[in-house]
Amino acid sequence: MSHDSDAFVFFGATGDLAHKKIFPSLHALVRRGILKVPVIGVAKAGWNLDDLKQRAHDSIAEHDDAYHQLLSLLRYVDGDYADPETFAALKRELGNAQRPLHYLAIPPSLFATVVEALQTAGCADGARVVVEKPFGHDLASAEQLNQVLHAVFPESSIFRIDHYLGKEPVENLVYTRFANTFLEPLLRREHVHHVQITMAESFGVQGRGRFYEEAGAIRDVVQNHLLQVLALTAMDPPAERGEEAMRDEKVRFMRSLRTLTPQDVVRGQFVGYRDEEGVSEHSTVETFVAVRLRVDSWRWAGVPFLIRAGKQLPVTATEVVVQLTEPPQRVFDKGTPNRLRFQIGPDLRISLDVRAKTPGEGMTGCDESLVLDERPHDEMEPYERLLGDAMKGDQQLFARQDTVEAAWRIVDGILGDVTPIHFYEPGSWGPPEADHLLPRGAKWLSPQLPGDQA
Ligand code: BG6
Repeated sequence: MSHDSDAFVFFGATGDLAHKKIFPSLHALVRRGILKVPVIGVAKAGWNLDDLKQRAHDSIAEHDDAYHQLLSLLRYVDGDYADPETFAALKRELGNAQRPLHYLAIPPSLFATVVEALQTAGCADGARVVVEKPFGHDLASAEQLNQVLHAVFPESSIFRIDHYLGKEPVENLVYTRFANTFLEPLLRREHVHHVQITMAESFGVQGRGRFYEEAGAIRDVVQNHLLQVLALTAMDPPAERGEEAMRDEKVRFMRSLRTLTPQDVVRGQFVGYRDEEGVSEHSTVETFVAVRLRVDSWRWAGVPFLIRAGKQLPVTATEVVVQLTEPPQRVFDKGTPNRLRFQIGPDLRISLDVRAKTPGEGMTGCDESLVLDERPHDEMEPYERLLGDAMKGDQQLFARQDTVEAAWRIVDGILGDVTPIHFYEPGSWGPPEADHLLPRGAKWLSPQLPGDQA
């Protein structure tokens, strides 16, 4: 049985992530009555508790009762992560806490130092640890990182964040799939021509050039968010109801994905990326990528799965499109759109694009969208949901070691400069070379935005 954590410690308390995501989520958790334990920020910034409170003030929009309650829970430890005194001070702040949660919102290069110091200071006993992405740089470094964590924490106490798993539309995708019998028979090779996942962002790297130079689109969003979404779209239903059943099924699917080779990949870079701060003038890092995946399973053999993700594209939207096969013979005017769409952002929308008869004389038709579900935006922010789950010890929405490593195995052979980089204009859909990955006759489908028709 899992117990609730009795202290929330976050390393990197003065950083950007804390400002943008963590404070607002903690505020929401206090508001919902879930967070009532000490919240200890740790950082090396030369700050004191008042500075941290000011940071919380700036990051939280509404200064209501929950905000004041959060401030009263807040503590701060300033110090170098390599200095044992930092952890001795943390131990003092933890007081009688038996089951703290340590959230490492810090660069992965510091994980080993912090995790070992937590153990030495006696702060790791009975504790949980939450780690941010990127989880490793490639398969070998992810395996090494797992060893570092496992030296101190069992897998059941490790929570690897992938914020896509905390998104309401992603949860809804799995729910809708497995709660409706009409969908399941459709989702297999007999009826699916191919599957496309697009994650488009209409902005650039937003001042994160230095980070992006180390990452690129494959590491930033494909290895984690988009392979997770793909797995949830295509995996088999879990065979049992246990807590791990869904994660077991997901890794089984991940393992049935073929390793990517250079022929399956097109990388692009938007014109102007090299002028961003922190970016090399000769950079070959991709800000766009398209990949074609194959699944070795009875359900999906022969069905191409395509993923494309990019910055500076025409819209900001993420969508999964399951393109069904054409009717075997054409009876009426033209083919049908025949698509199942799961929109993950900006809003939640699940729809079936069909062709229906236009009223009146003649057997002509028009494209219609049957909307199964539509909601304007996430009611609960991913970080709020995920941090709340981690405090409760619920791991279902976190990435397990085997899945993370399986995902790295898929992309490992296409990282870096093994394929050329193609330039594209900001505001375009990326390099046209990406079209070559599509099955014959298919085209990339732009995500539908609110108000769009099928
Ligand atoms: C992050 C990536 O993990 O996800 C960013 O580092 C990306 O580059 C972001 O913009 C997208 O998240 P969301 O929730 O806005 O779709």
